[in-house]
Amino acid sequence: MRTTLEVRHAELVARRDEFPLLAEVTYLNTCSLGARSVRSRRKLDEFLEQWDRLGARAWYKHWLDELSALREDFGWTIGRPGSEIALAPNVSVALASVASALDPVQRNDGDAVGRVREMGLPVGIGSRPRTRIITTALDFPTIGHQWLARAPLGVELVVLPSEDGSTVPLSAFEAAVDERTSLVATGHVYFTTGAVQDVEGLAGLCHDRGAMLLIDAYQATGLLPTDALATGVDFYVSGTLKWLFGGPGNAFLWVRPELREALAPTSTGWFSSARQFAFDVASLEFASDGRKFELGTPATPSAFIARGGLEVVREVGIERLHERTTDLGSLTIALAESAGLRVRAVREDAKRGGIVPLEVRDPKSVVDELARRGFVVDFRPGIVRLSPAFYNTEQEVADVVAALAELTPPADRIG
Ligand SMILES: Cc1ncc(COP(=O)(O)O)c(C=O)c1O
Repeated sequence: MRTTLEVRHAELVARRDEFPLLAEVTYLNTCSLGARSVRSRRKLDEFLEQWDRLGARAWYKHWLDELSALREDFGWTIGRPGSEIALAPNVSVALASVASALDPVQRNDGDAVGRVREMGLPVGIGSRPRTRIITTALDFPTIGHQWLARAPLGVELVVLPSEDGSTVPLSAFEAAVDERTSLVATGHVYFTTGAVQDVEGLAGLCHDRGAMLLIDAYQATGLLPTDALATGVDFYVSGTLKWLFGGPGNAFLWVRPELREALAPTSTGWFSSARQFAFDVASLEFASDGRKFELGTPATPSAFIARGGLEVVREVGIERLHERTTDLGSLTIALAESAGLRVRAVREDAKRGGIVPLEVRDPKSVVDELARRGFVVDFRPGIVRLSPAFYNTEQEVADVVAALAELTPPADRIG
């Protein structure tokens, strides 16, 4: 007999047949890499066929359009038009582009600061340079590394600790963001713990203090319904590896339109040019739209693959994906708790993304043993991460929790 959840989500679960990996293993690792839909292979075949048939003409007949469609898809995930999106091969490149645009502002370079001030933007302006970037201990390393690499330019990274190992409260940011801060850079959903941050609250407090906010939304895009403009965020980056089921090679950057106008990247490439096909090496005028922050030729086969995953996300809709994933997360927590496992996840549904972390003594050996038994999950220091997605069944969740309980000695269990 089917459970209530299965009946409610029957249409979504039926789509699991589109993902070949799910027939091979019990896959609860979407927070690391989403499974691939058969549509992605079809799209890749389309790309290869166009290459074989058209050679370089494929750029003009198909591929540039496909890249525009990808920008539209990305924009759709955050309620913005594709014209406001910059493509990047990964989040790190998108961050590097933002960092390059902020360098002159952080140095208090007259022109850059003047431009930003003219726009009336809440950006690190004042008599003293704002050289501080604030992130948290729960954020993905590439965020901190961008700014650590800029230490020779006088940039200082402040890493806020997490007292409970799961979240960093708004009050901690409040205490840290001051007149030395140019930017807060942190996740929408923490990749280790799945906790959802109060992006609107963060934007408000940053702007009140003349700082900007950059959000790494990798664990949110495709999962949390988002209106980027309404949140007040200044920079929003994400990619296709996880909840967009689009594989590696594609990420994006959205910059608040008036800020996009005011800032100019100092690392760039010809895809950012307003007259890309004029092939003029001696002058650079940036595109006025989101492409201003792009660099060189995008990873085009990856774009085709990604659009297969995005097609599924668009068909189902982010609200439904969120509802289904949240239900599976609650089920995972309930089963894990009743098995006496140590659950580090946020309990409140509205404050949890798609990750359920469980504290385990030796996460790597547990994950290896689970893999031998046909379960794919992953680990981070001190925890095993379970991330059931819309295509997982309740039975799969129950099975992986039962296997974890079996591998956890009674002394490590609660109760
Ligand atoms: C929160 C978060 N940010 C960024 C990344 C990846 O960054 P990049 O696209 O630079 O490899 C991941 C996962 O791989 C992630 O979970």
